[in-house]
Formats: sequence, C-alpha cells, structure tokens
Amino acid sequence: MLNKKTLFVILTLPLVYIIYSFLNDDVVDITDFLYEITGNTAIFMLFATTLASVVKKVKFRKMLGLFTFFYAFLHFLVFAFLDFQFDIEEILKETTDKPFIYLGSISLIMLTILAITSFKSLFKRFSKIHKLIYVVIFLTFTHSIMSEKTISLEDLPFILFFIILVSLKIRQYKKITR
Ligand code: HEM
Repeated sequence: MLNKKTLFVILTLPLVYIIYSFLNDDVVDITDFLYEITGNTAIFMLFATTLASVVKKVKFRKMLGLFTFFYAFLHFLVFAFLDFQFDIEEILKETTDKPFIYLGSISLIMLTILAITSFKSLFKRFSKIHKLIYVVIFLTFTHSIMSEKTISLEDLPFILFFIILVSLKIRQYKKITR
C-alpha cells in the first residue's frame, strides 16, 4: 500500500530524471527540456492533488500540493533565469505582452497562496480558499494549451479528467446542501 514515504520518493522522480539527463548529456535544448518537464510535472501533480481531495485521500493531499508548487516554481525559475537572465524589465514586458504568460503567473501566485496556507494552523482558518485549486487547474491548463498553440491528443485525458472532477464535486456539493 502507498504510504507517505513511498509517495515522497515517487514525487522526486521527475527531479531525479532531470539530474540524470544532465549528467548523461542527453539534453539538446536545456530551456525547452526544462520548460516541458517542469510544466507538465506540475500540471500532472495538480490533477493528482485534486483527485486526492475528491476521493478523500486527504493524508496525501498536502504533499502532492507542495510538490506541485515546487515544480511550478522550478518552471518559473527556468523562465526568469534561463530565458530572461532575471532581467526584470524584459520579464514584465513578456508577461504583459503574452496572455498565456500572465495566466501562468496568476496560477503561480494562487499556488503560492495555497502552499503557504496548507500548513496546519493556517489551513484551519483558510481552508475555504483551497477551492481556488479548480481555478488554478483551469488557468494552467489554458496556459499550457495556449503555449503550444494547439490542443493535442495528449491533452484529451486531462480535459476529460477535469470534467469528471468538476462533476464529482458538483454532486458532492448537491448532496451536502440537499
Ligand atoms: C509565472 C508563472 C509561469 C510562467 C512565466 C510560465 C512560462 C511558460 C512558458 C514561457 C512556456 C512555453 C515554453 C515553450 O517555449 O515551450 C510554458 C509552458 C508550459 N507551462 Fe508555464 N509558466 C508559468 C506557470 C505555470 C504553471 C503554474 C504551470 C502548471 C502548474 C505551468 C505549466 C506549463 C505547461 C504544462 C507548459 C507546456 C510545456 C510543454 O509541453 O511544452 N506553467 N510556461
């Protein structure tokens, strides 16, 4: 059975893969490689976090959420350091010029708030804002599709999963308010 230690090891695997690829000189375009792996890992873990919440596997939810934030933040560092050498002026220009970048930025700000308030003492007071996770899913998914400029077959399972998640949540909500 899955326990927290095993889950921790599983969640570090993308990072291990990144380090392994560098050590083996397998990477042709570092920036592209890191954008792709950190972005897709973050989005995948975001879905896993929401699933853990919906199927009431609450003990895994916090770890999944914090790893989502970790990979999303790495993704942002790729943008800020590798792509724009931390040139604040250029970063702000790119962010305001390209809608998909500001959608990503809004998602990261929301993910940061969710990560900070996921710790016990704060979670009790701020648990309601964790519903924002559905907004984050929608924004990041739109961000990812807009960055690729097309919807590919690989995106369909995520779209389906999002629809199922939202319908499950609506059903749960209706049961509570009935
Ligand atoms: C400040 C926040 C963010 C910035 C500046 C940003 C920037 C970018 C950029 C520039 C790309 C295009 C990369 C390319 O040229 O191929 C991209 C793609 C992507 N981003 Fe973000 N992003 C941000 C937040 C996020 C977040 C929070 C997530 C997920 C939780 C995410 C997931 C993705 C995904 C999945 C892709 C497509 C990767 C691929 O398959 O090529 N991004 N992002």
